[in-house]
Amino acid sequence: MKIVIAENYTQMSEIAAGIIAKVVLEKPDAVLGLATGTTPIGAYKRLIEYYRSGLVSFSKINTVNLDEYVGLDFENDQSYHYFMNENLFKFIDIPKENVHIPNGLGKDLKANCDNYDVLLKTYPRDLQLLGLGGNGHIGFNEPGTPFKSYTHIVDLTERTIKDNSRLFSDPKDVPKQAITMGIMEICRAKKVLLLASGANKADAVFDMVQGDVSENCPASVLQLHSDAILVLDKDAASKLDKGVLDQAV
Ligand code: F6R
Repeated sequence: MKIVIAENYTQMSEIAAGIIAKVVLEKPDAVLGLATGTTPIGAYKRLIEYYRSGLVSFSKINTVNLDEYVGLDFENDQSYHYFMNENLFKFIDIPKENVHIPNGLGKDLKANCDNYDVLLKTYPRDLQLLGLGGNGHIGFNEPGTPFKSYTHIVDLTERTIKDNSRLFSDPKDVPKQAITMGIMEICRAKKVLLLASGANKADAVFDMVQGDVSENCPASVLQLHSDAILVLDKDAASKLDKGVLDQAV
């Protein structure tokens, strides 16, 4: 794992956007795995700026998102379809048909999962962007999820529901289930870029980097990936041992 320590959220976002833009500049038809949540918003803002200033075009990329809530219409302002559109897609030149997000709607969610796995085989990712759950989840792969998991339906943990309730006007509206890319597929990306910001992520960062590789901390699987970059702000990195921080960039 390569660890990069940023001064703050802004710098973390700049570094992340730089890494993503470099992948697209080197391979204009790259496939990007994308994440939602608060963490990547700053990086997406930067990418939009790069696009507006003519530095990079997204017209040939394809994107595959990590996850989506079960039961939310795509127009629902809490759905991840809506989030991606509002925070990135509508501001850049990616063709609509190049955007792929799991479908949490319909009667046969298992078929949706299987279809997404077929799609992921067609779009092997050059880069997978990840945030980090306070409990160490990646995508919505909660602690205890087998590392050999494919796209599946998840019962969200109380902690994740509580963490996500800050984004809903009524906490009771937070969906209890989501559909998520599995850990197996996340790890198949050529490059994995995980971002973490804030002291509330410090324990999960410690477990991911210095804990055992264990399904109890899904993100710890990244210790086994050959090209995983963690961009952490100082608060998120605050519980790492000095020896680890000394080796960081
Ligand atoms: C979102 C996702 C989640 C989030 C994680 C952190 O697509 O897959 O794993 O990355 O829950 O969320 P934030 O960034 O809101 O702290």
